[in-house]
Amino acid sequence: MKKVLITGGCGFIGSHTIVDLIEKGYSVLSIDDFSNSHRQVLNAIKKITGQRVQNIEIDLKDAQATAEAFEKFGPFDGIIHFAAYKSVGESVDDPFRYYRNNIYSLINVAEAAVKRGVDRFIFSSSCTVYGDPKEIPVTEDSPLLSASSPYGLTKQVGEKILMDLASTKPGFKAVLLRYFNPAGAHRSALLGEASLRPSTNLVPIICEVASGKRQKLTVYGTDYPTRDGSCVRDYIHIEDLAKAHTGALEYLLDNKPSNQVEVFNLGIGEGITVLEATKAFERVTGLKLNYEIGTRRPGDVPAIFSHYKKAKRVLNWNPKLNIDDIMRTAWNWEQKRF
Ligand SMILES: NC(=O)c1ccc[n+]([C@@H]2O[C@H](COP(=O)([O-])OP(=O)(O)OC[C@H]3O[C@@H](n4cnc5c(N)ncnc54)[C@H](O)[C@@H]3O)[C@@H](O)[C@H]2O)c1
Repeated sequence: MKKVLITGGCGFIGSHTIVDLIEKGYSVLSIDDFSNSHRQVLNAIKKITGQRVQNIEIDLKDAQATAEAFEKFGPFDGIIHFAAYKSVGESVDDPFRYYRNNIYSLINVAEAAVKRGVDRFIFSSSCTVYGDPKEIPVTEDSPLLSASSPYGLTKQVGEKILMDLASTKPGFKAVLLRYFNPAGAHRSALLGEASLRPSTNLVPIICEVASGKRQKLTVYGTDYPTRDGSCVRDYIHIEDLAKAHTGALEYLLDNKPSNQVEVFNLGIGEGITVLEATKAFERVTGLKLNYEIGTRRPGDVPAIFSHYKKAKRVLNWNPKLNIDDIMRTAWNWEQKRF
């Protein structure tokens, strides 16, 4: 049985990926300091898969603790590195917190991996690396423009570090996964997005407004050059996204890549405006959302969506769920969530 290290395994994307990996026969170890996740995630994974995942609670900014974890719990056949902070807005307010966590953690994990001979590495990147693209949809070859937030910069730097390692460390291979807008929840409603910090992503905010946890939704800007003036994003269901990680891991472990680094966009290739997303929620749930139109938010680009044909062709990845599935599962989760 192949053993995989998942950093940030108790977070939103990490936990859903663990479920998919277990269902496909992998053994997993998680490292997570619960800085943005709940311990109940481990119980939810057990309820869904029947397996209790071991989590090592250390801060990956601590190089020594990270190295010791590799020594004690390795070797690993591969690593999926999710652990990072993820809010564009927070990163604008407190860039150093983001530089420190996202970049130090990656350096420590990559260094421990190289030292222990773990040479199959998957990195959670983001469509923010494209900045404000001149042409959409973006392909993996679209230029990486100036990042529009410190968060986006940490992802650009992370990608560069891994490209550099791949060209200097023989045998080291990396896959960079550029997510668009992950959303929705597991179909069981046992697992979903449960940040400890106030969410800044649209779908959880919509759900919190509908459940009365927030008074209203603010649509940040309706004066963008888009079809209804609100920002356009590419929402990808979390279960489809999780499957892409298992696909990328299989691709690395089967030694398929001819390049040292491969990059994949993960979205559904469709742009949806913020106002259309709110309508989708109302349509699927029959509820009315209280929202107001606000001003633009720093760090937001007007429109971005993906061209994902490379992931389809190379990883055999076929996202099947759409915005309605996202809203339905997110709402089911919101009503049960921890
Ligand atoms: N969710 C999104 O919208 C989105 C979009 C693009 C990219 N990403 C990237 O995907 C990855 C996972 O995102 P997510 O939505 O699951 O976030 P999340 O916050 O739900 O999960 C991240 C997990 O990492 C843990 N963590 C953070 N810093 C750590 C540290 N120093 N040591 C140990 N554990 C640490 C947190 O406790 C959390 O459980 C991140 O790298 C994020 O930047 C997310």
